[in-house]
Amino acid sequence: MSKALTNTFAKNLIAWHGVSGRSGLPWQDNRDPYAVWVSEIMLQQTQVATVLERYPRFMKRFPTVRKLALADIDEVLAEWAGLGYYTRARNLHACAQQVVDQFSGQFPQETQLLEKLKGIGRSTAGAIAAFAFHQRAPILDANVKRILARLYAIEGSLQNKVVNDHLWAIAENLLPKNSQDMPVYTQALMDFGATWCTSRKPVCLTSEKKCPFAKECQANLSGQVMLFPQKFAKTKSPEFENELLLIRHGNSVLLQKRPSKAIWGGLWSLPESPWKPKIVGASREQINLRDLCNAILPAEDVSEILKVGSLVKSFDEIKHVFTHRRLWMRVWEVRSSKVIEFLGPDLRWVPLKKLGLYGLPQPIKVLLQGLSPAHDADLKS
Ligand code: ADE
Repeated sequence: MSKALTNTFAKNLIAWHGVSGRSGLPWQDNRDPYAVWVSEIMLQQTQVATVLERYPRFMKRFPTVRKLALADIDEVLAEWAGLGYYTRARNLHACAQQVVDQFSGQFPQETQLLEKLKGIGRSTAGAIAAFAFHQRAPILDANVKRILARLYAIEGSLQNKVVNDHLWAIAENLLPKNSQDMPVYTQALMDFGATWCTSRKPVCLTSEKKCPFAKECQANLSGQVMLFPQKFAKTKSPEFENELLLIRHGNSVLLQKRPSKAIWGGLWSLPESPWKPKIVGASREQINLRDLCNAILPAEDVSEILKVGSLVKSFDEIKHVFTHRRLWMRVWEVRSSKVIEFLGPDLRWVPLKKLGLYGLPQPIKVLLQGLSPAHDADLKS
């Protein structure tokens, strides 16, 4: 490791932040560990612009770790709706309960203890320890990995443990000597990766801005910035399809709570059939109500719905891209002339006006919000 860089990196990065870093973000003025933790989890897979809007709302709804721990998981998921990656919301809730039960409501200061909490990995533990407790703890998220891989021209895949261990060692080595500098340094590192040393258009390849590390960065010096870090081999994620039932009576729709371990776990969605691999080029067939219901609901409920329900229409297919798979959903609308007491697990009639109280997957939320209110004639049961 270059000794010069080790001695000057933190100082130069903090100086860079003073001029070009992000400041005035709402989570930056509050170094309370609870506030820091919520913002870090929210920022993990959500863009800053969205977090700017949703973070204050979340903090208003759950202002303390105790309030979050005591909340019902459905309330937390409803508040998280639209942010995606709902495991984060379930982990937030579980972690708040761990902090209350195991640490009397006070976040621990050591990264080793923070890392034992639900949903807190090594890098997030480092960020919390640095921001909230001024600990000299490194972070190593995807942006930081890119910066360091370029600075030191680190070859090899980021999925490789040896490469990762090497990057952690570098991250540790570059920390500022003075622990009071940890919050600004950590924020600077995040900002530098997010805005200057970006994956597609690093400033060293543009003429407008001058990278403060241009003369030390091994990748830049050898003219190979875009070769670092080594790109993941991208495979196209597999495609699936399924059918969803939108059973409607007047202004109520039937929702089903999803199993907690599934995709969209714990959210309320439309009852759906199992996923099947999508056959390329095949168009989807018409379907009759009996077959549709049989694929989705328990037999007792199917016989009830066949008595009082009629298939009204199907919507255009909705394509949703998950991290590792793509799903094509076909939603079928069924009108029920009666409020059936369904027997299937976790089924509930929900008035359209009350949808806001439920955590719904984003595409389902959009679809249901687009439904027009029932005409008076439909409302008679
Ligand atoms: N991404 C993760 N943590 C962040 C932070 N504190 N500021 C900006 N982007 C981030």
